[in-house]
Amino acid sequence: MSKEREHFAGRFAVIAAFAGSAIGLGNIWRFPYMVGQYGGAAFILIYIAASLLLSLPIFLSEYIIGRYARSNAFGAMSALAPLSKVWKCLGYLFIITPMIVVSYYSVIGGWSLDYLVKSCTFSFIRTDASAISGIFPSFLATTWEPLLFHFIFLTISTIVVFLGVKTGIEKFSKFSIPLLFVMIVIITVYSISLPGSSEGIAYLVKPDFSKVTPQTFSYALGQSFYSLSLGMGIIITYSSYVSKNENIFVTGLGTAISDLLFALLASFAIMPAVFSVGLQPNAGPGLIFQTLPFIFSKMGEAMPLISSVVSILFFLTVLVAALTSCISLLEVGVAYLIEEKGLSRRLSCLFVYLFAGGLGVVASLSFGPLSGVHLMGKSIFDFMDALCCNFLMVIGGLGAVLFVGWKLNKGIVRDEFTNSETLGFNSRVFSFFYFLMKYVAPAAVLVILISNFI
Ligand code: PHE
Repeated sequence: MSKEREHFAGRFAVIAAFAGSAIGLGNIWRFPYMVGQYGGAAFILIYIAASLLLSLPIFLSEYIIGRYARSNAFGAMSALAPLSKVWKCLGYLFIITPMIVVSYYSVIGGWSLDYLVKSCTFSFIRTDASAISGIFPSFLATTWEPLLFHFIFLTISTIVVFLGVKTGIEKFSKFSIPLLFVMIVIITVYSISLPGSSEGIAYLVKPDFSKVTPQTFSYALGQSFYSLSLGMGIIITYSSYVSKNENIFVTGLGTAISDLLFALLASFAIMPAVFSVGLQPNAGPGLIFQTLPFIFSKMGEAMPLISSVVSILFFLTVLVAALTSCISLLEVGVAYLIEEKGLSRRLSCLFVYLFAGGLGVVASLSFGPLSGVHLMGKSIFDFMDALCCNFLMVIGGLGAVLFVGWKLNKGIVRDEFTNSETLGFNSRVFSFFYFLMKYVAPAAVLVILISNFI
């Protein structure tokens, strides 16, 4: 464990870094759709409950591990449980999962960069709405274009990580998070002022308890789990840069609230616009890279200038949100190589870049020349995503919460949670959260894990 670790400077920097990781594509392309699909306001309530009662305790567990050990995610596990093979394996998992995720996440990041360029060159406005659906397939069909933008995106992210925890990650997050909120608020105001937007608003807010099934709870938890970037060593790594004076509870709650707020704003930015042009919502890449360009083109027929500005703002939002998440993924691997392998930050960045870049090429080609290759019935890209999201991350989150609830000394957990009894409120709620970490959260995550298999 290195003594001279860099620190995030102050509460805003800490929350901005965590929120940067949390706010990402999940908030933009999955959450809005899930809200409408699973009961509107009813889903939002379930989501809030799942976030606070289940995801937050897992977040706190990872935070306790990282801040106490003051080490990278692998180093933390091997320092806190030196003799155990099982926990060591968990440490490896915390490094491997983000390395896989970052490779395909940066492919999508590249797409958003490409679409920002397309917005700036008025591609959507100049294309007739009926021809818009051809843009995405022909972009993928070029093969070189997604690859080029994947590498540009990854290069930008790696440069930020190379600049270090304070000069790179902290500065970038402190700048990006306010920017993201300002941009999404502008788009939201515009979107809900469109004629015909009320149907989209109703889709989001109308509580429909008939759409709530037992599965809804598992979907809500899965989404909040993914959205808070749990189960892959990110929270452990970032919290190892948090000062011992910081209040864990405020950080956790601040991150969860920013993440939720952004997801809600994104929902109100997207759905009213989707309904105003008479489309049905969908989730995933199709929403961002096909439905929205169609909307921009359609709106551009009457108001080309405004539509261009909104489309630039929108793809800039997607890009920045993806960048801050990508940075957090890269830092996990870089911190590991620096601390466990004794490499310089420069060399660590280079190795991580080459690994993620190379694997990303395979992921990207699975939309083109490698589209015929299937693993367990899925394309390579979908296989990587399913492997990580449904399996590796969930095991990682389960492992972290079990470690803190059952393996780590309770006195240590209490000290980290209450800053050695100096935080009155935290001392009062400790028993409740400890109970959640020990029993409730592991049970709920186990249910998700099993339900992913069935
Ligand atoms: N939390 C990010 C999102 O909502 C996704 C992500 C998951 C990013 C895991 C990094 C790690 O899009």
